[in-house]
Amino acid sequence: MLSRLILIFFGFTLCIVAVQWDEDEVLLASIPDNWPDPVYDFQSHPISKKGFELGRKLFHDPGLSLDSTISCASCHSQFNAFTHVDHPVSHGIQDRIGKRNSPVLINLAWSRNFHWDGGVVNLQMQPLNPIMNPVEMDNTIENVLAYLNAHPEYPSLFYQIYGDSTITTKSFLSALEQFTVSLISSNSKYDQFIKGDVKFTKQEKNGLKLFRKHCSTCHPEPLFTTNSFANNGIPKDTSDLGRYGITMQIEDSYLFKIPTLRNIAYSFPYMHNGSFKRLQDVIEHYNSGIDRGDERLSPVLRNEMNLSDMEKKDLLAFLNTLTDKSFMFNRSFME
Ligand code: HEC
Ligand code: HEC
Repeated sequence: MLSRLILIFFGFTLCIVAVQWDEDEVLLASIPDNWPDPVYDFQSHPISKKGFELGRKLFHDPGLSLDSTISCASCHSQFNAFTHVDHPVSHGIQDRIGKRNSPVLINLAWSRNFHWDGGVVNLQMQPLNPIMNPVEMDNTIENVLAYLNAHPEYPSLFYQIYGDSTITTKSFLSALEQFTVSLISSNSKYDQFIKGDVKFTKQEKNGLKLFRKHCSTCHPEPLFTTNSFANNGIPKDTSDLGRYGITMQIEDSYLFKIPTLRNIAYSFPYMHNGSFKRLQDVIEHYNSGIDRGDERLSPVLRNEMNLSDMEKKDLLAFLNTLTDKSFMFNRSFME
C-alpha cells in the first residue's frame, strides 16, 4: 500500500501521467517532465486497460501468420527489449530469412518514422507490413480478419472496447497500437541519475561525458535518437541501400534510421543487418573501424575519436546505465 502511495505521489509531482487504465487508474508508465511531447496523442486517444490487454493478446498470437507459427513477439521478444537476439536478420514463417535485423520496440510514441529506412510513417498501419511480408507472416488481412472473427474469444473482447463484435481492419489495427504505443521505457539508471535519485560511478560519469562529446548529435538524450537517418560508416553492404529505397534520392543511399540506445545491452546483435554482436565491437567500430574518407559517411563522424582503452570501458559502462529493468521485466507486457 505504501509503495503504491509513493508511486502515485511521484506520478503526480514529478511526472505527467501518460498512460492510465480507464477503470482503476493504475499507472502503467510515466513520461518524465523533461521529455519532449510524444507524437502519439495520449490525450485524445487514451490507452484503456482493456484495449492494451487486447493489443497484447494480438501481439503474442501466432494466428496472425499464414501457418499460425509466428507472432509479432517471435521477432520482438520482451526479454530482448522487443527484438530477437539469436540471429542477425529476422526469421519468418517456415524459417524464411528476412532482409533486416528486427528493431527494438521502445518509445514508439515519439517516433514519426518506422523501419530502418523510414518506409512506414504511421504506427497504426505498420502491422500490415509484417503481416503481408512473404518472408515474415506471409498472410493477408482478409485471412487475419476471418481468423479473428471466427475465434471463440476475440469478437466479445472487441465488442467490449469498440461496441461491435465484428472485427474490422480499423479496430484490429487500433487494438494492436494500444499495446505497441504503451512500450515506454523511462526508468533506467540513467533516468534515475537525471532525476537525482541515484549517483553514477566515476566510470559512468566519464562515459556520459564521452557520450555527449561523440554520440549525442545522433543519439541525443532523453530518447537517444533523432528519429532521422544517417550513415554511421558500417561496412557497405550493396544489397540494402536503406533510405534510398524509399526516396530514390541518391544522397539518401546507405542512410539508415538512427536507433534508440535504450536497453541497448539487451538488443544484440546490432545495426540494420545485425553485423555487430557485442557493444564492445560497436564502440571499437566508432573508434577505429570507420573509413573516415567514405563519401556517404555522416560529416559528424569525420574526426577520429582516439578513445583510450579506459575511455572505451567508460563509454560501455554508460551504455549499460540505459537498461531499464522495470521495462524489460514488466509483467504487464507479458502474454
Ligand atoms: C519475421 C520477423 C518479424 C515479425 C513476425 C514482425 N516483425 Fe516487426 N519488424 C521486423 C523487422 C525486420 C523490422 C524492420 C523492417 C525494415 O526495416 O524493413 C520490423 C519493424 C517493426 C516496427 C518499426 C520499429 C521502428 O522503430 O522502426 C514495428 C513497430 C514493428 N516491427 C511491429 C511489429 C508488429 C506489431 C508485428 C506483428 C503484427 C511485427 N512487428 C511482426 C521483424 C518482424
Ligand atoms: C552520424 C550519426 C551517428 C553518430 C555520431 C553515432 N551514431 Fe550510433 N548509429 C547511427 C546509425 C545511423 C545507426 C544505425 C546504422 C545501421 O544500422 O546501418 C547507429 C547504430 C548504433 C548502435 C546499434 C543500435 C541497434 O539497435 O542496432 C549503437 C549501439 C550505437 N549506434 C552507438 C553509438 C555510440 C556509442 C556512438 C558514439 C561513440 C554513436 N553511436 C554515434 C548514427 C550515429
